Amino acid sequence: MKKSVVISLGGSVISGDPVNTELLEEYSRILEQIDVDSIGMVAGGGSIARSYIRILREYGVSEFYLDNVGILSTRINAYAVSSILKDSSPIVPTSFEEAISLLNDHRIVVMGGVLPGFTTDAVSALFAESIGSKILVNATAVDGVYDVDPNTHPNASKIARLTYDEAIKLSFRVGQKAGSNVFMDGVSLGIAKRSHIRVFVIDGRSPEQIRNIVERGECSGTIIE
Ligand code: UTP
Repeated sequence: MKKSVVISLGGSVISGDPVNTELLEEYSRILEQIDVDSIGMVAGGGSIARSYIRILREYGVSEFYLDNVGILSTRINAYAVSSILKDSSPIVPTSFEEAISLLNDHRIVVMGGVLPGFTTDAVSALFAESIGSKILVNATAVDGVYDVDPNTHPNASKIARLTYDEAIKLSFRVGQKAGSNVFMDGVSLGIAKRSHIRVFVIDGRSPEQIRNIVERGECSGTIIE
């Protein structure tokens, strides 16, 4: 059976001026070395999406339209990421069918958002489900899941392991607070749960952890299973 991994690359990991090419080159080196046949990646919207959405919302633009602007921003980021990664498809697919078909000819396929109302984490979970991958790496702005927001609680502690249900409960609790930056939304976690996809939440600035995840199923962030 073909071995695969899906990586949700948070917008904050990609964003630089306008993209963090150095970090993406590091991803390229690591992905070249890991022992997997197929790599699915989903690029987040980051600062490009946030800037567009913030300014257009002031003009009373509908949330549906704003989501589409967000989706196009994630696709610009996906093009940037796939240009830098070796062995990546030069085409950014706009559907899962297209993504699966591109993986027949390319080791790495990078996509962005797909449908209004979703997040790129949810797209990553569906991408993993569609190709039968049991590993989903959420490379994000925090180095794992905390019991409370570490930015406002100095005593916050990182959680090494969570069940899907514990993670869903925590995501819901954190997500209810205004301005919160939830580690992963409930839709993504629900998809991971129904297909037994193990989720690794890691600091996106430490891509070397991906090697440990693939080889040993370990990371210094949080494992959700
Ligand atoms: P992200 O999922 O990247 O949101 O999509 P985010 O909260 O900015 O996450 P990070 O910081 O990149 O990790 C950016 C925006 O694109 C739209 C949403 O509006 C989202 O806020 N989007 C994305 C969709 O509507 N559907 C998708 O499938 C993906």
